[in-house]
Amino acid sequence: MKILVTGGLGFIGSHTVVELQNEGFEVVIIDNLSNSTEEVLDGIVAITGKKPIFEKLDLREKNAVQDFFKKYQDMSGVIHFAASKAVGESVINPLLYYENNISTLVYLLQELQQKPEASFIFSSSCTVYGQAEKMPITENAPVQQPISPYGNTKKIGEEIIADTAKVTNINAILLRYFNPIGSHPTTQIGELPIGVPQNLVPFITQTGIGLRQELAVFGDDYPTADGTAVRDYIHVVDLAKAHVIALQRLLDKQNLDKVETFNLGTGTGSSVLEVIHSFEKVSDKKLTYKIMGRREGDITEAYASTTKANEVLGWKAKFTLDQAMDSAWKWEQKIRS
Ligand code: UD1
Repeated sequence: MKILVTGGLGFIGSHTVVELQNEGFEVVIIDNLSNSTEEVLDGIVAITGKKPIFEKLDLREKNAVQDFFKKYQDMSGVIHFAASKAVGESVINPLLYYENNISTLVYLLQELQQKPEASFIFSSSCTVYGQAEKMPITENAPVQQPISPYGNTKKIGEEIIADTAKVTNINAILLRYFNPIGSHPTTQIGELPIGVPQNLVPFITQTGIGLRQELAVFGDDYPTADGTAVRDYIHVVDLAKAHVIALQRLLDKQNLDKVETFNLGTGTGSSVLEVIHSFEKVSDKKLTYKIMGRREGDITEAYASTTKANEVLGWKAKFTLDQAMDSAWKWEQKIRS
């Protein structure tokens, strides 16, 4: 079965391509290389022994998207990762985000709605919950008006898919990720942030290797156990496996609704200081960090209720925070060596 993975050379995309190929799927990747490189293909080949088909294509080019689907008429499913994800950048350049994340989604769905049936997996984010009132966060927690244009593209994206699925043959699963971290245990693929990382874990590993002087811990006056903000950090390989299970559910027509939503997290919240301590443990290094003020737009805590994903998908995250940090650190060392 042929599966289209958009953004398949990116961080989560590449790990998902590996899991798909390991399960025997034939993969076609679309990527515009805006936040990835073609060398990621070598990493995928090194792990799986198979080279996915790669089409360098920008999904904002509607004609190119149409041509793609003329060329590949036998696609059984689509996993859609291709999108921009930097919160700060989205505030500065909102139209880039609406074009990159929304226009592209519309073009893809326009092609898929012409098919007798289509299975669609969408990369969403726990950012749609904002600061949820109750922890752990279930899928029934209210979706809030996002603070950033990036967050808004995830909320709007979910709505576009729901409206479209209602009146077409498209079946979809929306996956709301908590905080994906880590890299493949083989260190053949991992996260490749461009410029100064905005996310905690790549900033930690870059500080550990000496690329950054010190980590700024954004706030220690949150109402949490140690005062630093709490998130649910999930190993990217666990996350990737959930995509294959979700896709298989649609292909097997096991879905109960045309659109289903699942949280993907570990169910455990970790504070910024706990993540730092985990890094120090697995790397046997002291991390230089300084407590700074809160970062605008940050929430106090977010961790997932995993009950629905456990019970309905039969999926559970297996890696611990230490294992995820260990893989992130090994990856950082490899790419700087
Ligand atoms: C962020 C986005 C979220 C997006 C996700 C994608 C914000 C407000 N949220 O999640 O919408 O889906 O990235 O990857 O940007 N931290 C530090 N120092 C740093 C970096 C981070 O203390 O240098 C802290 C943050 O304050 C936060 C935690 O580490 O408490 C995690 O931050 P980050 O990795 O950026 O993820 P989120 O903010 O949870």
